Amino acid sequence: MKHLGILLSGRGSNFLAIADAMDRGQIEGADISIVISNRAEAAGIAAARARGLATQVIEARGRKRAEQDAEIVACLREHGVELVCLAGYMRLLSPEFIAAFPNAILNIHPSLLPSFPGLDAQAQALAYGVGISGCTVHFVDEQLDHGVIVLQRAVPVLQGDDEEALSARILEQEHLAYPEAISRVLSGNYAIVDRRYVARASQNAALIEEAK
Ligand code: GRF
Repeated sequence: MKHLGILLSGRGSNFLAIADAMDRGQIEGADISIVISNRAEAAGIAAARARGLATQVIEARGRKRAEQDAEIVACLREHGVELVCLAGYMRLLSPEFIAAFPNAILNIHPSLLPSFPGLDAQAQALAYGVGISGCTVHFVDEQLDHGVIVLQRAVPVLQGDDEEALSARILEQEHLAYPEAISRVLSGNYAIVDRRYVARASQNAALIEEAK
């Protein structure tokens, strides 16, 4: 059994989509061993508690990021976490946190990266006037919304969309993308070549071999 740790700060709909997918058997051989929030009032942490999952609130309380992160890493380790999933976790991770879980931290972002990193990605996409947006599940590295992309799903931006309408259309795809990306990563059936995620299908064997 592979153990997942979820980090969230708010609503928690991506966390719930992951938990539901797991309950349906769509993420095989894995469980959620801990849900951590940096905000006590996060709806997501209440939802996790209601599902009977182990939860922990670890707030910044004016501490330095590295201190808070050390506590989070210790908590994840205590629960045997092998894959960390950021699900609306609104704090940057320290380099020490990232180093503690090499290629084992995923994030979901509501745009087709590298377009529109950072806050309010949906509003950024609308303001820019793109015709297509979507979501990206990626490994976390030290730059914001930057690591290796595991999977993306696109949606159209429609005439008359406001931020709410576009966000809802993207969120629907997020809830499909995150469980799928987690399954892919847990399968171990991939390699990272330069900064590309390459599925280990036979036609990619040469590419992976070449990169060794
Ligand atoms: C999602 O749009 C996600 O892409 C972004 O933060 C939002 C979190 O929503 N990183 P939820 O808390 O999972 O409902």
